[in-house]
Amino acid sequence: MTAQDEALPQELFFRISGTGDSPWELGRPQPAIIKLVEKGIFHGEILDIGCGIADNAIYIKNHVENINLTAIDLVPKAIEVAREKAEKNNVNIQFEAVNMLDDLSTITTHTLKQHSYDIILDAAVFHMFSNDDRQIYVKNLEYLIKPNGLYIQICFSEKETREGGPRRITKADLNQLFSADHGWTIESIEDTVYELRPDGPIGTDGRAYLSLIRRNKNI
Ligand SMILES: C[S@@+](CC[C@H](N)C(=O)[O-])C[C@H]1O[C@@H](n2cnc3c(N)ncnc32)[C@H](O)[C@@H]1O
Repeated sequence: MTAQDEALPQELFFRISGTGDSPWELGRPQPAIIKLVEKGIFHGEILDIGCGIADNAIYIKNHVENINLTAIDLVPKAIEVAREKAEKNNVNIQFEAVNMLDDLSTITTHTLKQHSYDIILDAAVFHMFSNDDRQIYVKNLEYLIKPNGLYIQICFSEKETREGGPRRITKADLNQLFSADHGWTIESIEDTVYELRPDGPIGTDGRAYLSLIRRNKNI
């Protein structure tokens, strides 16, 4: 397992995101995302952070009416593949290469708007970051999400005991970072599975948490 405060290096993503060979590039949406769509959780303005090659985003946009979807990723190559795939599927998504570890309140991007997203989706991104990076990332979430918006996080959990892969997220981590003092309410943390390619370093079916975390209304 990755050491507790060790981020996965950005160099890794620049090397493998968008190649079609990354362990998470399944070529289909995550089953956990399909279930969330079936539950009717997605609505309004949606931001998919770390969208990769956008199989989740394209599925959501194809199956939910009356939404606007923006999808960002650190890696321009992944965004290029995602954009081509969306065009082929005739799906309208705004894509942009953005680093969620930049201070977004100080830089101009083409797509992102302050306090504008009803739903922010994070499928297997948060578990990449060091403790210091997490602070920057959460500040950016707070900058982007609407009051009463929902942050949906699917990340490897402390129940995943196999060697390798990203950090494991604990309930204690989530309670500390998304506390009432910081204007968040954790609505639920459930066990789920984040599927990976069977030929990857830890095999498929990563044990994960699906967390639904609400930004307070009167923030
Ligand atoms: C495990 S992949 C998940 C991709 C996609 N969400 C999915 O479930 O198929 C993590 C993604 O986060 C992106 N990423 C890593 N660090 C990032 C950062 N600082 N800002 C934005 N995206 C980042 C990577 O390039 C990669 O595409």
